[in-house]
Amino acid sequence: MSDPAASRSCLTVVLAAGEGTRMRSALPKVLHRAAGRTLLGHVLAAAREAGSCSLAVVVGPNREDVAAEAERLAPGAPVFVQAERLGTAHAVLAAREAIGSDYDDVLIVYGDTPLVRPETLKRLRAPLAHGASVAVLGFEAQDPTGYGRLISEGESLVAIREEKDASEEERAIRLSNGGLMAVAGRHAVGLLEKIGNRNAKGEFYLTDVVEVAVMSGLAVAIEQAAEAEVQGVNTRAQLSVVEAEFQRRLRAAAMENGATLIAPETVFFSHDTKIGRDVLIEPNVFFGEGVSVADGAVIHAFSHLEGAHVGEGVSVGPFARLRPGTRMAAGSKIGNFCEAKNAEIGEGAKLNHLTYVGDATVGPRANLGAGTVTCNYDGVLKHRTTIGADAFVGVHSALVAPVSVGEGAYVGTGSVIIESVPDGALAIARARQVTKEGRGAELKARLKAEKGG
Ligand code: UD1
Ligand code: MG
Repeated sequence: MSDPAASRSCLTVVLAAGEGTRMRSALPKVLHRAAGRTLLGHVLAAAREAGSCSLAVVVGPNREDVAAEAERLAPGAPVFVQAERLGTAHAVLAAREAIGSDYDDVLIVYGDTPLVRPETLKRLRAPLAHGASVAVLGFEAQDPTGYGRLISEGESLVAIREEKDASEEERAIRLSNGGLMAVAGRHAVGLLEKIGNRNAKGEFYLTDVVEVAVMSGLAVAIEQAAEAEVQGVNTRAQLSVVEAEFQRRLRAAAMENGATLIAPETVFFSHDTKIGRDVLIEPNVFFGEGVSVADGAVIHAFSHLEGAHVGEGVSVGPFARLRPGTRMAAGSKIGNFCEAKNAEIGEGAKLNHLTYVGDATVGPRANLGAGTVTCNYDGVLKHRTTIGADAFVGVHSALVAPVSVGEGAYVGTGSVIIESVPDGALAIARARQVTKEGRGAELKARLKAEKGG
């Protein structure tokens, strides 16, 4: 089917000025995160992926944080300030200058409705191409509490009634407002300006655009969406519902792409996690932002990864932590209770147990014994450790950076290495052992006597 919206000019206005008081948070609502990305970020990404629309964002007064997030994710999009929080229609009008009347379509999306898919945004614009002046995205709510209800007469939508203004009869309606709307550009400002604030909250409701359009004799359409796509976030409980839906989608996509998840419901992805084919993910694994896992890797149980690349056939964990800047080359291994940060781990290198590598390069096939620690921080500055190919570092060694261990070099167990070790050398940096014949038994006898006496 051809896309009638494709040839029409379009502006997407994202409303992000609400305080979200029911979140009980110092953070504005739209900066709360789901699947590692802000709610605003999800909405902007969907708007961008829907293609061909210009973007404008409306933020609250003194919300430099929200404006900065908008600028980071939608560079160049104008950001407008809604000086007073007087409702969603008032918020849209803050972007009046951008809306003008030149766009064919004006799409209005709420920053707290992050699950919407790009295809749905396109679909919502379609009725405008067929003569409607307003299109509303509706859904059948399991529990419509808190949502605006779509009031129809016969086949036609005539109003949206907010919960607080609805009669008992209207509250029984399950067809609800998803919080997304498309308005014909040439009518947008005119319709919005006609909206009043005679309602329970004394706010200018965007939803009243439906009644205003109907009174002006303009056609109004409803497009329907699945509830999971229009879940709004007004409370922390709703935020957790949104998170669960993102996780459901991300797990399904990883499996569809050829990964095995033994217990999918215990694996948590980020919006941008990349998982290759034949990757095995054991239970209870968490992915923060910026992780890619190449084909054939195994992520064992209870591992935590963020900002890291896991190469082909790599084995991670159980109980491993990969922090930002870690790149594990093909066939390398990081085992239980190990942590890596800003570290290049070479092909086939092994860090099997209880090791910390930070600000380090570990050469191919190098082997770091249990408890090896790169001492990368002196309390003020960070320093690098370089470990050459095929090097062997004995158990419980501290490598005090900046320092290097050469190719094929060998570090004796329990060493504290403060000077670089040349290629092929053996370095032992620990006190020589002192053994005193018979003194152990003597010492014990003396201690026993002291206790008894
Ligand atoms: C809104 C709809 C409701 C719909 C629901 C879907 C209205 C009047 N009601 O209710 O019909 O079912 O969303 O989730 O639109 N905002 C501003 N400035 C304001 C007020 C709000 O920018 O003055 C922004 C908020 O940041 C938020 C969005 O608009 O992103 C929606 O506001 P919110 O207060 O969450 O409205 P709901 O009560 O959820
Ligand atoms: Mg809301």
